[in-house]
Amino acid sequence: MLCLKQYALPVYDADFEADYGLVGNVLELKREFERADGFLIAVPEYNASITAVLKNTLDWLSRPRGDETTATLSCFRGKVAGLLSASPGRLGGIRALTHVRQILTQLFVTVLPEQVCVPFAHEAFDESGLKDIVLRRGLEDLGRRVTAFAAYAAPA
Ligand SMILES: Cc1cc2nc3c(=O)[nH]c(=O)nc-3n(C[C@H](O)[C@H](O)[C@H](O)COP(=O)(O)O)c2cc1C
Repeated sequence: MLCLKQYALPVYDADFEADYGLVGNVLELKREFERADGFLIAVPEYNASITAVLKNTLDWLSRPRGDETTATLSCFRGKVAGLLSASPGRLGGIRALTHVRQILTQLFVTVLPEQVCVPFAHEAFDESGLKDIVLRRGLEDLGRRVTAFAAYAAPA
């Protein structure tokens, strides 16, 4: 599991990129994404959208290395993603998922139509995990769907 906070990427700025290129943590994160056949992305919701950290990460990863173009990004192209969110509100972060779906599609990731949103997240879990059996099954199904799709969707 990757936690974006650990990479502490600088705020994307084209002047910074022109001066320093893709710094070490960006390249490391790109390699992690390249190694994966698919992604399960847990998205917190900030003001009805995704967090600045996630947007900043996707913006950095969308920048091509010397051997790539924006159309051939090997960390994204031909891969599959399943989306999930949890929030203390009653919508469970669903508005953020709409936005990250659009961004990932732009990056040539196939985003599965199935998604899982956990509302009232502060009271949704106990020692055994997610309390709501329907949500729990949805989450397990989402993981299985990503795995199954990744097995036959070979990156271009
Ligand atoms: C700036 C900010 C905006 C937020 N906006 C929303 C929101 O629009 N909808 C929602 O359900 N929760 C919202 N929340 C609550 C977050 O979803 C919740 O705090 C979540 O735990 C954030 O994840 P994090 O702790 O990884 O940052 C917001 C929180 C912050 C700090």
